[in-house]
Amino acid sequence: MAILFNETTSTFTLLTKQSMYQMKADKYDVLLHTYYGKKGAAYDYSYLITYADHGFSGNPYEVGDDRTYSLDVLPQEYPVYGSGDYRPTALKIRYPDGSCACELRYAGYQIKKGKYALPGLPTVYAEEDSQADTLVITLEDTRKLFFVHLYYGVLEDLDLITRSVCIENHSESPLYLEQALSTCVDFQHGDYHIHTFYGRHMKERTQQTNLIPHGIQSIGSSRGASSHQHNPFFVLTSPQATEDVGDCYGFSFLYSGDFLALGSKDQFEQTRIVMGIHPDNFCWHLEPGERFYTPEAAMAYTAQGMNALSQIYHRAYRHNLCRGKFKTARRPVLLNSWESVYMNFDGKKLIEMAKDAADLGIELFVMDDGWFGKRDLDVSGLGDWYVNENKLGCNLRELSDEIHALGMQFGIWFEPECINEDSDLYRKHSDWALKVPGKTPVRGRCQLVLDFSREDVREHILNQICQVLDSARIEYLKWDFNRSISDIYSALLPPEKQGEVAHRYILGLYDMLEKLFCRYPDLLLEGCSGGGGRFDAGMLYYTPQIWCSDNTDAIDRLSIQYGTSFGYPISTVGAHVSQCPNEQTGRITPLETRATVAMAGTFGYELDTSEIKPEEKPIIQNQIVEFKKYYDLIQDGLYYRLTSPEDLPACHGWEFVKEDKSEALLCVVALQIPPNASRCRIQLKGLDENKIYLVEGEAYPGSVLMNGGYLIPHATVEYESFRIHIVEKNRD
Ligand code: GLA
Repeated sequence: MAILFNETTSTFTLLTKQSMYQMKADKYDVLLHTYYGKKGAAYDYSYLITYADHGFSGNPYEVGDDRTYSLDVLPQEYPVYGSGDYRPTALKIRYPDGSCACELRYAGYQIKKGKYALPGLPTVYAEEDSQADTLVITLEDTRKLFFVHLYYGVLEDLDLITRSVCIENHSESPLYLEQALSTCVDFQHGDYHIHTFYGRHMKERTQQTNLIPHGIQSIGSSRGASSHQHNPFFVLTSPQATEDVGDCYGFSFLYSGDFLALGSKDQFEQTRIVMGIHPDNFCWHLEPGERFYTPEAAMAYTAQGMNALSQIYHRAYRHNLCRGKFKTARRPVLLNSWESVYMNFDGKKLIEMAKDAADLGIELFVMDDGWFGKRDLDVSGLGDWYVNENKLGCNLRELSDEIHALGMQFGIWFEPECINEDSDLYRKHSDWALKVPGKTPVRGRCQLVLDFSREDVREHILNQICQVLDSARIEYLKWDFNRSISDIYSALLPPEKQGEVAHRYILGLYDMLEKLFCRYPDLLLEGCSGGGGRFDAGMLYYTPQIWCSDNTDAIDRLSIQYGTSFGYPISTVGAHVSQCPNEQTGRITPLETRATVAMAGTFGYELDTSEIKPEEKPIIQNQIVEFKKYYDLIQDGLYYRLTSPEDLPACHGWEFVKEDKSEALLCVVALQIPPNASRCRIQLKGLDENKIYLVEGEAYPGSVLMNGGYLIPHATVEYESFRIHIVEKNRD
């Protein structure tokens, strides 16, 4: 059992392969957090707590004259607003009388086999009940109006602990949840670095490291989506930690909307971490008898450095978050029409491209934006999901049949959540868009956002999508979302429920994706939000891959994909070889380098096939053969970051290693060609020290490749890349 309860000390200890997490209900029934870190004896770690009289740190009433007991100082499992704890809080509730001060006390627990699920929300799941245990600790507010159930999922072998919180109103009046976060961890000792992943459209998930200061280091989004600007994933490390060694904690939020994550150091050098729905656009009206579930946060710990931490998330998210056929089935190599023809196409042009693509060995042809309604520019058409047969010159069935006749699958683009004012749907149902009465709405890319908190709106759009999918042979759907949300107001809800709209929107989005997922189990879904604006663990529950960025420049992608790799597996990273010079940056890179970079992802192409030069054709054909050959190694192998592109090394490298260490693929891109310089050396990782490996015909012991390193050939053209296959000698 991975969950222990010691009745004598009232401690709950959660154990995974490498980590241990502990809480204790103390003599006042306050649930204290006592330990999170390396696995060891399930000792009562509350001995580490110092009790002292601290000026201006108040004391709960029941401790009487004991001025050494203060919630302002004690490490807490789920801190609440108004309890005398002035640090960042996890829960703030407005009571029927308008007050917010709250205290929670321990009221009981339950331990169950298997992993809990959350209604309408994505969760990490166990394949079998034996793979996970669930602990539910119940706290009650001292005014006896509501319960707080703390959920813990312990996935011992995956090395993951998940958390969610359920607030249950058992009073006779409504309560208002003004803030209900999903997780909080208090560290009593130590300094910590927080590694976050910031960015903007076309520059997502850039790694940034800061020391958690006295004060607050926070990231978040109130854009209605997890956002390009900050990713709902971060890593906390000891200042000494590196890629290969040191204490690292991961915090990942399985949610695609507004989020808040912060680290804060207090007056006593203690550090608090919290993560959950951003309170800015949130106020949930909880009626008597109702329950509210927070989204899940997934936490991991290792003493083996940041790369090992990433590998925990890679395994868990690939196998126990992504679902459906494409969790394991090989995904087809695709050609997407966007960067080739944008919206300027007809059926004939698409078929010409598809013919070229089939010739190259491409397996799936994706028709991107521009096929529906009145859509030749991005100012109109969204909302009208019927095929523009005049533009295509045929119907969708005919087009998809022609593409299948070429031996390829067919895919299509949608942006279901948005609407242009210049659309039939808007002319008919202008109140279906998120808008505040009496105020003109903020537009983004000339479009508004549909009110997905409304079931009737979702049903209409889902029906339209299903009609399109049922009218032709379609194996792939790209689900896009191209703006930040504003003007959060739903025409159907009363004023006291308007604070629920942003979260209801995300619940609506998940509801719709779930329906689509269940109705079309063989459909490959790719998430997208102007590239990587909603690249989060919540979306991965529905879409096993997400277009990583609208920036397809191979060199910029090195940073973007590097940052993404901290929290997400390679199999989820949408990556394509695109035209050169690059459409976004004008940069010129070798075709092989573009493939090397796109192979660290789902792999596909996004270029005008009519512009492919004759000498490039066999190169592309070989790339596709090679990608398929290495598919399992890339998607299922252990991923190692060997250098950081942020350090601007002469050569930037990464590596995929088969779990049994019999094979590896080393990928390197030359970022500089320093004249008259020595060859670049890269030290490999994850090999077996004692095995002999063949690299380009030479035999090397694994220890030599890892300690001495491998000398990369001199680059002869700018941004040249190398894909070096390493295989155990005498392997069957
Ligand atoms: C977004 C996507 C692109 C493309 C366009 C179409 O920007 O990220 O890949 O689909 O929309 O409008």
